[in-house]
Amino acid sequence: TIDRPLTGKMAIVTAGPTIEHIDPVRYITNHSSGKMGIAIAAALADAGANVNLVLGPTSQVSNHPGVTTLPVQTAQEMFEKVTSLYSAANLVVAAAAVADYRPVNIADKKIKKGQAQLHIDLEKTPDILKYLGEHKVHQLLIGFSLETDNEREYALKKLNDKHLDMIVMNSLADAGAGFNYDTNKVTLFGKNGMERSLPLKSKLEVAKDIVSAIIELQHA
Ligand code: C5P
Repeated sequence: TIDRPLTGKMAIVTAGPTIEHIDPVRYITNHSSGKMGIAIAAALADAGANVNLVLGPTSQVSNHPGVTTLPVQTAQEMFEKVTSLYSAANLVVAAAAVADYRPVNIADKKIKKGQAQLHIDLEKTPDILKYLGEHKVHQLLIGFSLETDNEREYALKKLNDKHLDMIVMNSLADAGAGFNYDTNKVTLFGKNGMERSLPLKSKLEVAKDIVSAIIELQHA
């Protein structure tokens, strides 16, 4: 177990986007590919964890034998799947790009074109990670922060507001970082004041560094 320090631990990883239905043929989503979360799930499994990957709609797949993929579509479905597993989890990595808003009503028939302008009322989706922070018993919670400005300030605010143990900050401003790239450049912030800036590297390497930091947190 020296090389598999997470043996016996159950991890939940959320990854990918969510889709929020407008009518039977249309939905709202975002550019998340799920690559970073899938790489983290694999790195956790390599470290010995039993991993449940709650994955929004994406063409990316997990092939790791230690990872069970649980597909979901909407933020509500992701919330229900994650919370149903939460009491059995030792750690959660929330890498999903959960839609912040969803249509208040889903039309049961295809919305016809006609009017020059169409308004769709949106309401907030549940903040899954915030809920987990508020209902934390013993679980380690790791979140992501993706912003286009004031990245550090927002990341530290999320670390605190969502009761996280660590947050992974990435910036869309960095070349080669973010959606759909195979590389990423991140800074890790721990609740104990830890701050670690990693150079640009592959998402697989970033995932290993994140898992190393998680293993350190476990012993802290
Ligand atoms: O507040 P913000 O959405 O920027 O926080 C990002 C972090 O919160 C990510 O870890 C993301 O997976 C998680 N999150 C969530 N549920 C939401 C929104 C964000 O779990 N509805």
